[in-house]
Amino acid sequence: MRVGILCSRVRVEEKLLFTAFENLGITPDRLDERMMTVRVGEYAPPFDVILERSVSTSAGLVATQLFEAAGVLMINSFATSSTCADKLRTTLALSAAQVPQPHTEIALSGEAALEAIERMGYPVVLKPVIGSWGRLLARVNDRDAAEALIEHKEVLGGVGHHIFYIQELVQKPSRDIRAFVVGTETICAIYRSSEHWITNTARGGKASNCPVTPELAALCQRAALAVSGGQGGVLAIDVLEDPERGFLVCEVNHTMEFRNSIDTTGVNIPEHIARFVIESARVIA
Ligand SMILES: Nc1ncnc2c1ncn2[C@@H]1O[C@H](COP(=O)(O)OP(=O)(O)O)[C@@H](O)[C@H]1O
Ligand SMILES: [Mg+2]
Repeated sequence: MRVGILCSRVRVEEKLLFTAFENLGITPDRLDERMMTVRVGEYAPPFDVILERSVSTSAGLVATQLFEAAGVLMINSFATSSTCADKLRTTLALSAAQVPQPHTEIALSGEAALEAIERMGYPVVLKPVIGSWGRLLARVNDRDAAEALIEHKEVLGGVGHHIFYIQELVQKPSRDIRAFVVGTETICAIYRSSEHWITNTARGGKASNCPVTPELAALCQRAALAVSGGQGGVLAIDVLEDPERGFLVCEVNHTMEFRNSIDTTGVNIPEHIARFVIESARVIA
């Protein structure tokens, strides 16, 4: 079986993935999308399956399309990755599958955004539809802040920032949950605890083990199926605990980091991923 790992930068995660495949008797080739040139229609990459681990979301999506067009099984698929890469598309997919999530409003002008925010009541959260690591998330506590943020986004932001993604601030405890899904199974989860309302580990959130209850596993399975058109994949699901409504899905990630979660959970995440990649390629072979 010919396996590729697409990654421009080899982070700790990719090193662990290469080792996991090697332990299963397969040596994957490393592919770097920055070195790719593709003559459309004639491209025949010698791979059965490629695991996409690009640090660049946009480059990863383009490469995924090129490989899929050439008949290579991609994990995750373009359909899944492009949904997860975009918070608006994720929200729509979760909504179509009736997966519980925070109340979210979309506005396409600053004026409409301010109106929506005032109607929702403070505090609200504004998020760029494309982004990660908690970057450019804003908690808006009052109208002055809303006006200033909207103006900054309209005047200084690129087109992506002219889509206003507005969410209620969920009154979660000082943590959220990150659940790791491989296929459709939740293999482990961590709490990310922080004094800040943004709990990403990239922003200082501390990881501790979170038990995978049947309820959490069921919710994550529904979320994974929703964003993948029923296929499942290699996904990380951010879950918020609402005091009244229980678990709400915050977002789904398609090229997650996991270095802080292996020792914390005692689960060999890269091995699970490698097995899933190999098994998926066998199924279609
Ligand atoms: N609506 C919300 N209510 C409360 N906390 C939130 C909300 N949205 C995001 N957060 C916090 O901010 C973090 C980052 O948000 P997320 O939507 O996952 O964006 P990113 O893609 O940058 O990780 C979450 O893990 C959570 O701690
Ligand atoms: Mg997140």
